[in-house]
Amino acid sequence: MSLLLTGITELTTNDPARGDGAADPGDALLGIVRDAALVVSADGEIEWVGPAAQAPDADDHRHLGGRAVIPGFVDSHTHLVFAGDRSAEFAARMTGTPYDGGGIAVSVAATRAASDDDLRARVAARVAEMRAQGTTTVEIKSGYGLTLDDELRSLRIARELTPHTTFLGAHVVPGEYATQRAAYVDLVTGPMLDAVVADGPTSLAESIDVFCEPHSTHAFDGDESRTILEAGRAAGLALRVHGNQLGHGPGVRLACELGARSVDHCTYLRDADVDALVAARGTTVATLLPGVEFSTRSPYPDARALIDAGVDVALASDCNPGTCYSSSIPFAIALAVREMGMTPAEALHAATAVSARSLGLDRRVAPGQPAELAVIDAPSHLHLAYRAGVPIVRALDL
Ligand code: NIG
Ligand code: FE
Repeated sequence: MSLLLTGITELTTNDPARGDGAADPGDALLGIVRDAALVVSADGEIEWVGPAAQAPDADDHRHLGGRAVIPGFVDSHTHLVFAGDRSAEFAARMTGTPYDGGGIAVSVAATRAASDDDLRARVAARVAEMRAQGTTTVEIKSGYGLTLDDELRSLRIARELTPHTTFLGAHVVPGEYATQRAAYVDLVTGPMLDAVVADGPTSLAESIDVFCEPHSTHAFDGDESRTILEAGRAAGLALRVHGNQLGHGPGVRLACELGARSVDHCTYLRDADVDALVAARGTTVATLLPGVEFSTRSPYPDARALIDAGVDVALASDCNPGTCYSSSIPFAIALAVREMGMTPAEALHAATAVSARSLGLDRRVAPGQPAELAVIDAPSHLHLAYRAGVPIVRALDL
């Protein structure tokens, strides 16, 4: 049964060629069609997109009551596989304690101690929480196991919920290896990586990630990060990097040099980092995670300057127990608009089209694409930031 959707005041297609030609640059970027309709096939594929007045008929009809429809958010950076509670760490940060990555060990201990069923239920609940806020595609990292068995378990549980899984054995050096850093890098690049790709390069993980951060004694320096990323690439994984989160460092330039799909955080950038991102345009996306700056009392990255320089900017939640326990992309969009100089259209584009590209996906609303959509209880996408904190957007169940 095909389904005709009408009652759409404004449809964001992310396809400038499909927009109805509005003079507004934001509308052009988003490929906005007003008074739109969509036809979705029985197997959930978009068959037709355009003005309602020209819509073909379908087997079934649904009127959305005068709401905006957008591509579902693509949250391209999360750490959902964890147990335990670190809310006291958040409270301490709000009164001035800085973040240094040390709290990751607390989540590692709790995650190792959790049963499979407990961990699986926690991850599924977080994915459901995201869907209820408009996220239809999620990337999930391991990184709170940090033993071979615990990393594999985290990836297996994540894989039950998404194909976009990332091996983050190089999150931090676990306590038991604190005096043998090189041995831990050998474990990550040897037995752990071998096990991750044992059944084929993308059987358990699509990407490899590393917390490249010389400002944290727990994370990895530029040389260690290079070793880990090159090993991952040789094993057939795509590359992602946590870079320049806590201070200036080599992460952004390394990610660009190695052709990573994304370098995430980008909180502290020098001109050379921006130049590298501009040169890597089309290959490496800068994924900004403003919920982290909010939750760690850090300065926000200058998204406006990055976009004006020509960098591909994505937005994601970084939902994790330490630096941002928010699963809300609308919250990230509101912060991006209020604190980072992005327009509402740029922020929505960044959390759909650009974040999708960083996962190798196309998130246009066009024939042949999966109908991964979200609906807003409002006439336009502007309300996402305008009505910050109000639950007006959710994934569209067909
Ligand atoms: O993206 N920076 C490294 N990893 C996470 C935080 C992890 C944690 O504190 O539990 C991040 O901010
Ligand atoms: Fe992260």
